[in-house]
Amino acid sequence: MATLWHGRFAEGPAEALQALNDSLGFDQRMFREDIAGSRAHVRMLARVGLLEADDADAVLVALDAVESEMADGTFVFVDSDEDIHTAVERRVTELAGDAGARLHTGRSRNDQVATDLRLWVRREMTELAGLVGRLQATLAARADDADEAYLPGYTHLQQAQPVLLAHHLLAHGWALSRDVDRLLDARDRADVSPLGAGALAGSSLPLDPDGVAEDLGFASRFENSLDAVSDRDFVVEALFALALLGVHLSRLGEEIVLWSTDEFGFVALDDAFSTGSSMLPQKKNPDVAELARGKAGRLIGNLTGLLASLKGLPLAYNKDLQEDKEPLFDSCDTVRLTLLALDGMMATLGFDTDRMAESADSPYAAAVDLAEFLVAAGMPFREAHAVVGGHVRTALAGDGSLADLVAADERLGPEAVALLAPGNAVRRRTTPGGAGPVPVAEQRRRFTDRLAAQAARIGS
Ligand code: ARG
Repeated sequence: MATLWHGRFAEGPAEALQALNDSLGFDQRMFREDIAGSRAHVRMLARVGLLEADDADAVLVALDAVESEMADGTFVFVDSDEDIHTAVERRVTELAGDAGARLHTGRSRNDQVATDLRLWVRREMTELAGLVGRLQATLAARADDADEAYLPGYTHLQQAQPVLLAHHLLAHGWALSRDVDRLLDARDRADVSPLGAGALAGSSLPLDPDGVAEDLGFASRFENSLDAVSDRDFVVEALFALALLGVHLSRLGEEIVLWSTDEFGFVALDDAFSTGSSMLPQKKNPDVAELARGKAGRLIGNLTGLLASLKGLPLAYNKDLQEDKEPLFDSCDTVRLTLLALDGMMATLGFDTDRMAESADSPYAAAVDLAEFLVAAGMPFREAHAVVGGHVRTALAGDGSLADLVAADERLGPEAVALLAPGNAVRRRTTPGGAGPVPVAEQRRRFTDRLAAQAARIGS
C-alpha cells in the first residue's frame, strides 16, 4: 500500500515503525473536524483559481460521502491509513479520482492537524462548559430546597461555625463558575485558524488563509506560520482548565464521601447513584463521589504529561506533537462522564438536615458570638477572645456548662446566654457574602444572574 510520501522512498515502512507511528486508532474521532477543514480548503482553492469548479464539486461530493461512511461505520480503513487525514484523503481520491488528488494542494498535515484540533477544542470546551452549568443549576436548586437548613462549617475539618447548607452548596457553585470562565477562555484562545501555514512556511500558491478562517467560523487566522503549526498551548490550556475543574469536582466528591459516612450522616445517596459490596450485604458505597475524587489524578497527569512532551521542542512541527491528542480526548471524556454522574448524584441525594443541625448546635459553635458580644460592649477583641476561651476550657474540663459560666460572668450574663440558642449563630452572620440567611438570599440572586450570564457566553 502506497504511503503519502512514496515518491521519495524505495521501500515501504517497517511494521514496527507503523505500529508506533500510526495515530488513526485515536485520531479518527476527529473525522468531522478533518472533513470540515477539507471542505473549507477546497472551497478556498476554487475561489483563488487553483481548482476548477467541477473538480471542487467532485471533491465536496466525495467529502460528503466519506463523512457519511465514517458516521455510519461503513468506512473501510486500510493498512496505509496512518491517521485520519491520510484516510480521508485516500478515500476522497478513490471516489473523485484526479480531482481528489488535488485536495492537498498548498496544505500540509501540519496545518491540517492543528486546524482539526482547534476545531475540536472549540466545540468540546463549549459543550463541557454547558455540562458544568447543569451541575451548577442542580447545586442552586438544592440550595433552594435547603432553605434555612444549616450544618457545621469546618476549618482543619474541625467544627468552626455553623453555615447555611445553601451557602455551602453555592461555595462549590461559585468555584465551578470560574471553571466555566477558564473553559471558555481556552475556547476563545483556540479560536484561531492555522490553515494556510502549510508545513511551516506558508506557500508559493495564492492561498487565502483569511477566507478559510472565516469559512470555518474562526475568530481570526494565524499571524506566524511557524507558530501556527508548532504550538499546542491551546491544548495545554484546555487540559489545565479541565484539571482544575477536576480538582474542584474532587473536593465536592470528597465532601460527599465524608457526609455519607455513619459518623457524619449528613447525606443519604440515592440507590441509583451508589454501589453495593460483593461481600458485605449492609454496604452502600459512594463510588461516584470517590471516582470524582480519583479522576482528578489522571486529569492532572494528562496536563503534566503534555507539558513535558512540549518542553524543549524546536520549531516547527515535530512528531512529538502527535502526543497531544490522547490526553486531550481522555480529559474531555473523563470530565464529561464525571460531570454527568456527579450531577445525577447531587440531584438525587437526600440531606439529613436534622442531623446537620444537631451536629452544628454545639454551644461552642457560638463562641465567637460571645467574644463579639464583649467587643460590642467595648472590650478589645483579643481580650474578649481570652475571656471566652477561658470559659470554653472550664466547660470542657467538666466544671460547669458553657451557658452557666456565661450566665455567671457579669460581663456576659443572660443576654449573652441567648446567643447560645440553637440556630442563632448562623442567623447572626449578616455581612455581605456571609453564611447567614440574609446574605445568602442575596447570594442566590447573584448566582442566578451569574448562571444566565455564563449561559449567554457559552452560547455565543
Ligand atoms: N498524525 C499527525 C499528528 O497527529 C499528523 C501530522 C503529521 N505530520 C507530519 N509531518 N508527519 O501530529
